[in-house]
Amino acid sequence: MTNLAHADLDKTTVTKAYDRWAPVYDLVFGAVFERGREAAIAAAERVGGRILEVGVGTGISLPHYSRECRLCGIDISEQMLRKAQDRVTEFGLNNVEGLWVMDAEHLSFPDDSFDVVVAQYVITTAPNPEATLDEFARVLKPGGEIILVSRVGAEAGVRRTLEHLLQPAVRKLGWRTEFSFARYARWAERTNGVSLVERRAMPPLGHFSLIRFAKAGGADDVRPSPSVESSAAA
Ligand SMILES: C[S@@+](CC[C@H](N)C(=O)[O-])C[C@H]1O[C@@H](n2cnc3c(N)ncnc32)[C@H](O)[C@@H]1O
Repeated sequence: MTNLAHADLDKTTVTKAYDRWAPVYDLVFGAVFERGREAAIAAAERVGGRILEVGVGTGISLPHYSRECRLCGIDISEQMLRKAQDRVTEFGLNNVEGLWVMDAEHLSFPDDSFDVVVAQYVITTAPNPEATLDEFARVLKPGGEIILVSRVGAEAGVRRTLEHLLQPAVRKLGWRTEFSFARYARWAERTNGVSLVERRAMPPLGHFSLIRFAKAGGADDVRPSPSVESSAAA
């Protein structure tokens, strides 16, 4: 079995799907993804500075960042972003610089704008994941980090077969079930100045991973070897 073709999800389907999810998103996906979000926020805060949350959705993460961090959020779904704006108002989040309807694959920010780009549960919903990661690397400052929480498809076995069978149905919901870690590894290998620094299994069921990439060129550029858990490859 091969990886899905690049255009297996289209932006209209994804936007409509998340516009429909918006009223119930927090109820359905709030608790289940909480641990992954906590891990991503902790990793982002270790770098600090100006942080871009791509696919910020209903803004569920925003109140959990230190107020020292300056936050920008983008999402392709206006309905999700309306919820995020309500949250910013409700919590008085004056460290949020702005929220924009924007496509992750075509970010309207100059090069080297952010210390961290965070995308939680987003890349596997993007029609062109590798082009989207290219944009993350472009807007990231030298020495910054891309921090993802992402579903990682099984490489083999029963779960692999199930994911393949489920893919046509879940596409309508704006998701991919099949997405191998090899795609992330290949992207880092072919992207100048970007290296994989961590992969850590995340609940539920370890089917998700926290994945960190570093962009070379920062003042403190001596990095340890990647911390990649082999157990996460299941
Ligand atoms: C599964 S939700 C994750 C939301 C949030 N990050 C969280 O932790 O719950 C995926 C989000 O990514 C957004 N999204 C999907 N494709 C996108 C794209 N190409 N550009 C910007 N946002 C996108 C969706 O609208 C949705 O809000």
